Amino acid sequence: MSQKVRWGIIGLGKIAHNFAFDLRISETAVLQGVASRSIEKATKFAKKFKAQKAYGSYEALVKDPDIDVIYIATPHVLHFENTMLCLQYKKAVLCEKPLGINLTQVQTMIQEAKSQNVFLMEAIWTRFMPSYQKVLELLNDGAIGDVISIRADFGFQTTFDPEGRLYNKKLGGGSLLDIGIYPIFLSLLVLGMPSDINAMARMTNTNVDSFIAMLFEYKNDAKAVLESTFEVDTPTEAYIFGTKGKIKLHRRFHHANTITLYKNGEETVFQLPHSGIGYIHEIEAVNENIRNGDTENSKLPLAFSEQLITIIDQVKAKIGLWYE
Ligand SMILES: NC(=O)c1ccc[n+]([C@@H]2O[C@H](COP(=O)([O-])OP(=O)(O)OC[C@H]3O[C@@H](n4cnc5c(N)ncnc54)[C@H](OP(=O)(O)O)[C@@H]3O)[C@@H](O)[C@H]2O)c1
Repeated sequence: MSQKVRWGIIGLGKIAHNFAFDLRISETAVLQGVASRSIEKATKFAKKFKAQKAYGSYEALVKDPDIDVIYIATPHVLHFENTMLCLQYKKAVLCEKPLGINLTQVQTMIQEAKSQNVFLMEAIWTRFMPSYQKVLELLNDGAIGDVISIRADFGFQTTFDPEGRLYNKKLGGGSLLDIGIYPIFLSLLVLGMPSDINAMARMTNTNVDSFIAMLFEYKNDAKAVLESTFEVDTPTEAYIFGTKGKIKLHRRFHHANTITLYKNGEETVFQLPHSGIGYIHEIEAVNENIRNGDTENSKLPLAFSEQLITIIDQVKAKIGLWYE
């Protein structure tokens, strides 16, 4: 493909604005079209971010032959139906996290992408941050020896709104799916699949979790202590402890610009700032995939997303969290 990758965006809320902002930095992509349930909203968004076309329905955008890849930025519960629609029209998809709200949904989406031979990826921007490439390099080089534990938290204070996306069960509310996914992502990236999962939560009167503490155990006896909450601001840092040292991912660890290696009584600080708001790194990764005709991304393969939701489903079962 010699021309620029032509993006479409579905669901023009908060994250779509950030994504579109970073898309403008890309020299290998253009924002071709945007779709909202409201044509007025789509028109305003298209004007702001210089998109070629504005659509008042998601279906209309999916049918646009001039779009190569669609970014899905709707509430969690809609990821499944929005992604399936795109895949059925053979459109490549970058879908916000979580890819689906349970394993069955994720497996169905993966099967559809495979049978249509179309690109699909979960939009975990964290995986593409420069700081994460450095962390993996340090771990691979044995800088901290064998990893024996991970500690990671993600918390911010929000006002309880039973109708809002964060607390409304019908929209997939709860801290686990929204931000708890990041500490779990880190544990999966570094330690793989846990052999045992424990979790405790505080539930809201809308029956979603506003606080969750998780303890994962691994076959090699490593442990991960993970937390997410909408109740209070927490440090939102992560530590990877090894037999010979530790690595700290500074606040907010899921898009850390700074990491520190502690070893032999010394501290080495790495400044690895992300570009733009931070979404440009996943955007460029997907641009390359689309240009190469790939059906998945090697840094964030679909099997990884399947494992991630498998863990999340087990955590949900532990705390009695379910979605229709
Ligand atoms: N990667 C990240 O850093 C990050 C950060 C925040 C959120 N996210 C993810 O992005 C997704 C969207 O989050 P957000 O904070 O952008 O949400 P948001 O501001 O509420 O926007 C979601 C958009 O989805 C569309 N939508 C369709 N049906 C809807 C319904 N029944 N109720 C509400 N909105 C509906 C709306 O767009 P239209 O009105 O235009 O159709 C709405 O603006 C979530 O899955 C979340 O996990 C990711």
